[in-house]
Amino acid sequence: MRRSLAILTVVTSGALAAGAFAVLSPSANAATTLGTAAAAKNRYFGTAVAAYKLSDSVYSGILNREFTSVTPENEMKWDATEPTQGTFTFTAADTIVNRAVANGQKVRGHALAWHSQQPAWAQNLSGTALRNAMVNHVTRVATHYQGKIDSWDVVNEAFADGSSGARRDSNLQRTGNDWIEVAFRAARAADPAAKLCYNDYNTDGINAKSTAVYNMVVDFKARGVPIDCVGFQSHFNPQSPLTADYQANLQRFADLGVDVQITELDIEGSGSAQADSFAAVTRACLAVTRCTGITVWGIRDTDSWRASGTPLLFDGNGNPKQAYTAVLTALGGSATSPSASVSASPDTSPSTGTKTCTATVAVQSWTGGFVATVTVRAGSTAVSGWTAGATLPTGATVTNTWSATASGSTGAVSFANAGYNGSLAAGAGTSFGFQGTGPAPSTTATCTAR
Ligand code: G3I
Repeated sequence: MRRSLAILTVVTSGALAAGAFAVLSPSANAATTLGTAAAAKNRYFGTAVAAYKLSDSVYSGILNREFTSVTPENEMKWDATEPTQGTFTFTAADTIVNRAVANGQKVRGHALAWHSQQPAWAQNLSGTALRNAMVNHVTRVATHYQGKIDSWDVVNEAFADGSSGARRDSNLQRTGNDWIEVAFRAARAADPAAKLCYNDYNTDGINAKSTAVYNMVVDFKARGVPIDCVGFQSHFNPQSPLTADYQANLQRFADLGVDVQITELDIEGSGSAQADSFAAVTRACLAVTRCTGITVWGIRDTDSWRASGTPLLFDGNGNPKQAYTAVLTALGGSATSPSASVSASPDTSPSTGTKTCTATVAVQSWTGGFVATVTVRAGSTAVSGWTAGATLPTGATVTNTWSATASGSTGAVSFANAGYNGSLAAGAGTSFGFQGTGPAPSTTATCTAR
């Protein structure tokens, strides 16, 4: 899929056209989203996605704007994909995967073999029957998604907590100690291009459990068992906090010749303490060359499996939290980056109290669709509301808008501020976005302030 990126700026004020029109290179802007900032560091920034939430426009808007990788939160698990032995249901997972592929987002597959979330029929199997069912499951699911998955969590959570360094007891473990490598070999045969990961929790620092996983990777590498990556779930809370050896732990695995990924990040808490921990995790990944990306385990706090711990980057209304800004900054981006429109197309409106604004439009497009991110910035006077206007080419239709309200979906479309981002101090900016099908917009945008 070939994508293009264009950033253009048009500046007007209500009655007074105050601006120039400039074509800017992407590098003229500090990245303003998690995905683009991570991409500038050659990494992805992903999130867990629940299929049933995709119709929520706030949710899908943030998903489109911020994330370059998705992990189906539950839809690919054994109970979801093979509820009856031999009968596979991929509808919900397909919805997530096909949408991600269309949007140019990577997909982390999660999870092929796991002791939890097994269908009842599998829970009741043992021995050879269970082993064969597991291999068939891995093969069928990985084959269905062959070519669409960047990384698979082939085996999830197979080691015991605590100091034993032992395997977790489970029905799968009781089929024989080689069940993990059998699953990896089946996944490799089914989808040779996907990176194959082992994924676990409480393995984020250097401890007995992570060392047991480390020793397994050493063994697999020595014996030629296919393994490409290790996932560190990174679910942190006061009982299980981020530790100072986090980066060193990632590095010791990377030194074995596998990629490392932060796969389910969430950190309970709030304010600067939470933000500092998120930033530390982000910096640790950036410091380890083979850390290829970070996935947070949900979008808004209210989407989290631990919602009461407010562990994510967006609040329940979809507004970015302090933790969001900390991550974006750690990635080298800027939530309030110097706008390209300011430097390339200065607002020349008089500072007599006339309310003006600029709209800077960045368009990412591919065959059949586009995503536009618009930065609205107040001129030299504070504004209490704004409307940006874009003219779409024939055949283009806006299908989704976030952080603004669209009027119309074809031709001349106007976007009014949302309730929380209409008031801008002098020189301050905010962003909204829209997604569509058909040819990319001509990037002509106007901005009217009030
Ligand atoms: O779909 C049903 C719904 O029909 C029903 O009304 C509702 C009532 O509780 O339950 C819904 O299913 C729930 C499902 O999430 C979807 O929301 C399950 O009960 C619930 O058990 C399930 O929890 C998931 C959990 O894994 C199960 O182990 C969480 O969403 C999911 O975030 C969590 O993810 C795991 C990773 O896969 C592995 N690492 C740990 C991580 C957090 O536990």
